Amino acid sequence: MKEKKIRHVAIIMDGNGRWAERHGLPKTEGHRRGANQVSVILEAAQEAGIEFLTLYAFSTENWKRSAQEVSALMRLMEKFLDEKIPELMEKNVRLRAIGRLDDLPVNVRSKLFRAIEATRENSAGTLIFALSYGGRAEIVDGVNRYLEEAWKSGRKPAKLTEESFRNCLYAPDVPDPELMIRTSGELRISNFLLWQLSYSEFYVTDTLWPDFGREEFFAALESFEKRERRFGGRLK
Ligand code: IPE
Ligand code: IPE
Ligand code: MG
Repeated sequence: MKEKKIRHVAIIMDGNGRWAERHGLPKTEGHRRGANQVSVILEAAQEAGIEFLTLYAFSTENWKRSAQEVSALMRLMEKFLDEKIPELMEKNVRLRAIGRLDDLPVNVRSKLFRAIEATRENSAGTLIFALSYGGRAEIVDGVNRYLEEAWKSGRKPAKLTEESFRNCLYAPDVPDPELMIRTSGELRISNFLLWQLSYSEFYVTDTLWPDFGREEFFAALESFEKRERRFGGRLK
């Protein structure tokens, strides 16, 4: 089979709650196990030569969860950022983040920016956390930023095109994901990367995120290899 180049994989890490429920454990334990899987999948992605791995860690809608669950998730994020800088340095991986980062608690934000700064020069792959991220928010934030810049410079804003709109995204230089994986079986996008996923291949598995390991990650890549990507055209 002709090997298809895959540069960017995006994952909706879903199912921590169900995992905890099935094991008779509190939800926070599911989130903790889920956070541990990040290193496993990052390593597998690096091994597969994937340049960008985007992980949906917290959505703009997840703020609606109980204060207790939200703060447990934020504490986990802080812990991850405290502990993982050496690992990211060792793996030579750069950390980036997309989302409404201003809405994050100040401790999370400052640790996040510290980790982003510390890993800025790393060049063997990029891990992108989608945090307080919503696809609609990204589009609206981008357009508003564009209008504001035009307004500040006193120019009438030029009409956007699909190409120039790309600059309105949180990470315009990152190529669209070729593959989007969702764990835990839900057949929906849940407001993830609405613009970028327009022609991505989807791989949905019933496996819950804390159980999603390297083997299944490689199985997802293999499934991608077999897809026929037409982009609306005809192959012959
Ligand atoms: C995904 O797990 C993690 C976040 C959304 C932060 P969930 O907490 O959504 O797990 P389920 O869907 O309840 O199983
Ligand atoms: C999507 O999962 C968000 C993340 C994994 C961070 P949700 O559990 O929030 O999505 P829904 O509610 O099932 O659509
Ligand atoms: Mg969920």
